[in-house]
Amino acid sequence: MHLDLTGVPVIITGAASGIGRACAVAFVAEGAMVAAIDRDAAALAGLAAELPGLVAVPADVTDETAMAAAVAHAAGELGGLAVAIACAGTSGPFGTAVDEISLADWNRVLAVNVTGQFLLVKHALPYLRRSSAASIVLMGSDSGFVAAPGMLPYNASKGAVVQLTRALSVDLAADGIRVTCVCPSIVDTPMARADLGLDSFAGVGYPVQSAEDVARSVLFLASPATRTVNGTTLVSDFGYLARSSFPA
Ligand SMILES: NC(=O)c1ccc[n+]([C@@H]2O[C@H](COP(=O)([O-])OP(=O)(O)OC[C@H]3O[C@@H](n4cnc5c(N)ncnc54)[C@H](O)[C@@H]3O)[C@@H](O)[C@H]2O)c1
Repeated sequence: MHLDLTGVPVIITGAASGIGRACAVAFVAEGAMVAAIDRDAAALAGLAAELPGLVAVPADVTDETAMAAAVAHAAGELGGLAVAIACAGTSGPFGTAVDEISLADWNRVLAVNVTGQFLLVKHALPYLRRSSAASIVLMGSDSGFVAAPGMLPYNASKGAVVQLTRALSVDLAADGIRVTCVCPSIVDTPMARADLGLDSFAGVGYPVQSAEDVARSVLFLASPATRTVNGTTLVSDFGYLARSSFPA
């Protein structure tokens, strides 16, 4: 199958680590032109050294002024934008009781995971409107559908991303811009390792996917190969959500 991403200008947030980084590598391998946004400037510089031609733009996705400038700079360097991928995210308090979650922590998780995705879309929109095959892929989670205990702000934020996907697809339909969302279960990234206190997922006894697995789903949804897919989520969880509680 041809994904037809050669020469396509793509902007990716959270590209310095984990899933966003794997997406940057995967889009470059498909011949796309990639601009990478992350607040971790040092890690972003490392990625740029690895991927010649990558446009690295340090910015905090929760800062609207910075995001407006970063997206404009990326679009200028790439000669436009056809694809926007929102991977920047944070897990926030992990294992914290509801009445012990600070308002600051709650606000930070919602700001990065929801507002950050909105700001990417908002500022990429003028460029995406000029593309004939524009596509936005948001990074959700299975936590948008099921809740692991002790991750209240994260679960709430990922539920919001699922609905943000639907609402954006409706609002942007007239512009011909598709909006989809990938919802993975546990992915082996620095975020997941840190949350679970693991150096490795080897032998954990539950299914774990790689950032490259997720990047392939993102490539597929971003590409014209899925031109009929809009406003929906792709759950990649080894089938966990499909299973009934019926004891058989
Ligand atoms: N790892 C998992 O198990 C898993 C599962 C489902 C969904 N996700 C989602 O995938 C996305 C990527 O997560 P990951 O596991 O690759 O994590 P990660 O920590 O490896 O990477 C996240 C990246 O986002 C960047 N970032 C965080 N806050 C930012 C901000 N305010 N501005 C700019 N950049 C910022 C970080 O610097 C980092 O480079 C997140 O939205 C996460 O919720 C992860």
